[in-house]
Amino acid sequence: MKYQKIYKKSIEHPEVFWKEQSDQLEWFKKPSTILSKDKNDYDQWFEDGETNLSYLCIDKHIKDGFGEQVAIIYDSPVTNTIQKITFNELHSEVAKLAGGLKSLGLEKGDTIIIYMPMIPQAAYAMLACARIGVIHSVVFGGFAPHELAIRIDDCKPKAIITACSGIEIEKIIPYKPYVDEAIDLAVNKPNHVIVFDRHLKAEIPKKDYDIDYKSFVNQAKEVEAIHLESTHPSYVLYTSGTTGTPKGIIRDTGGYATALKFSMNYVYGVNPGEVFWAASDVGWVVGHSFIVYGPLLNRNTTILFEGKPIRTPDASTFWRVISEHRVSAMFTAPTAIRAIKKEDPLGLFIKRYDLSCLKYQFLAGERCDAATLQWTQDQLKIPVIDHWWQTESGWPMISNMVGVALEVVKPGSATLPVCGYDIQILTEDGEQAPSSTEGYVAIKLPLPPGTLTNLWGNPERFKKGYLERFPGYYFSGDGGYKDEDGYVFITGRVDDIINVAGHRLSTAEMEEIVSSHQSVAECAVFGVHCELKGQKPLGLVVLKAEVSQSDETIQKEIIKDVRREIGAVASFRDVLIVQRLPKTRSGKILRKLLRHIADDLKYNIPSTIDDPEIINEIASVYKTNQIGIHKN
Ligand code: COA
Ligand code: AMP
Repeated sequence: MKYQKIYKKSIEHPEVFWKEQSDQLEWFKKPSTILSKDKNDYDQWFEDGETNLSYLCIDKHIKDGFGEQVAIIYDSPVTNTIQKITFNELHSEVAKLAGGLKSLGLEKGDTIIIYMPMIPQAAYAMLACARIGVIHSVVFGGFAPHELAIRIDDCKPKAIITACSGIEIEKIIPYKPYVDEAIDLAVNKPNHVIVFDRHLKAEIPKKDYDIDYKSFVNQAKEVEAIHLESTHPSYVLYTSGTTGTPKGIIRDTGGYATALKFSMNYVYGVNPGEVFWAASDVGWVVGHSFIVYGPLLNRNTTILFEGKPIRTPDASTFWRVISEHRVSAMFTAPTAIRAIKKEDPLGLFIKRYDLSCLKYQFLAGERCDAATLQWTQDQLKIPVIDHWWQTESGWPMISNMVGVALEVVKPGSATLPVCGYDIQILTEDGEQAPSSTEGYVAIKLPLPPGTLTNLWGNPERFKKGYLERFPGYYFSGDGGYKDEDGYVFITGRVDDIINVAGHRLSTAEMEEIVSSHQSVAECAVFGVHCELKGQKPLGLVVLKAEVSQSDETIQKEIIKDVRREIGAVASFRDVLIVQRLPKTRSGKILRKLLRHIADDLKYNIPSTIDDPEIINEIASVYKTNQIGIHKN
């Protein structure tokens, strides 16, 4: 009942509801207009309000007397470091870095790219930008220089903030050399590269545009947080779309702050002062919202974890961190749990730690299979909450809102729509799908505060990609259904986006790279089932006639090309050479059919297929190569 009441109010009276939520924040100027239209005729929140995310995350707490509370715990099993940073210390680091950026001439509305591993300086950089109204764009470290270059050319940063290197399991990732390579590739050249030297014994190439982070901050003067309009973009975060070019999601300031404060309390059920841990990366939306801005805004101690669920050093790491830092609520991807379960199926590591502090385990980033949910519940004996959201939304759209009331958990469902999200399942024609019938997951406009305001430099793509498919609705790109209790089950993407270990990737982009190989006549790349990562990309290629290279060489070269262009994160390791691809008579490759055959899912043979016999051919290739479901 409690959930129904608050949810109903948020949908029926959005302005009243979100005005009340915005009152939970400190504003330099309180908004008097709650919901209005922007110049593109799209909804915007708190138009005339003024605030600053850096102020809300740091200064406010110091003013309230919490300067000595730990704001960030940097826990890095890969460097054997645990560092606790108070709000006072965070203030000094951020205010000085912001001062340094100002001295370089960076001003409100300028852009900066942050390409950093999971170290505190990554969070300082984000908060320093927010402090002076500089729009940051954090790029995930698993992306290759080519991807970084695409983002440089799209958001045209005046500076890049990076570190010498990152550390992955048993290897050093050369961040600075990647930045140099990306700048070489990019048309737009940033003026400065601010480099944090971690002294990891890796050689750092020097360039004229380099600035040493530490001396730069030491010499800089602290600056105050400036007043920013609520609608001022706080950041641009690139995410995969259905074409080869990523799209820059724009997030505002005041709406985002309101939504994050609301999420921490009502979705995650944590109170100020508690410890919150999202085991993700600052390069993803989870890192923006629930490693940096959300917990700090809510005066939670946040954990910045530089490690993996396994092999850093083993599958006990998560439980060690929770127990040692007394984490109240934790967030990870189902993939991480599957990796732990594989190494420690009986949960022997879990039993070694006192996890009595942990109230909830949250999972998101990909579909959570019932077995993973069940195992986690059995092991931790606390509510395990699957919840659904996207880079675009910036915060949860479907969840068990434990801060309101814990609802029954139904495995396979992310539970009920979160306040502000009027989630509807629509048919192909935009009609309401009957209960328990799969359809397109769409959200009736207006979206609540904190969701994307547009795409950077591309309002047409924004309209076309999200708003035109179902007029009056935001289209999520996911399929799903609602059961008779209103629980929403997300069944997966209905487009060319795949989800590999909770990382969102575009198969269209991979296809562009594969098809550009000299020996490839045509190809199809799509996601197939992977026991560990949920999905993994598979490339099927048809070779040109009279190719001189061996099949093996071609396969290796294609894999290398994708890794070089997109990065290791693509996990592109499987290429099969086939004689032909299934197509419609008009020549369209039947990718969905290819995926369904691999995963042994039900499929209808389209009447338009040019030659049905090809299905047996493809199935036999999968079987021989142990692809998809045939692996298990
Ligand atoms: N910087 C540089 N390289 C990175 C990277 C980063 N931040 N993150 C991943 N990579 C690289 C990895 O080193 C790996 O390279 P390799 O092909 O040379 O081995 C490749 O990208 C694929 O990485 P990943 O998908 O992480 O696979 P893995 O086999 O190394 O680890 C898991 C498997 C399950 C442990 C890991 O995927 C994991 O922790 N998943 C959870 C992810 C998560 O939390 N997502 C949440 C997003 S909300
Ligand atoms: P990203 O933008 O990287 O966060 O990826 C968002 C996509 O991940 C969504 O559109 C879904 O396809 C998928 N996703 C995220 N969380 C869930 C979930 N809990 N259940 C099912 N799919 C999810």
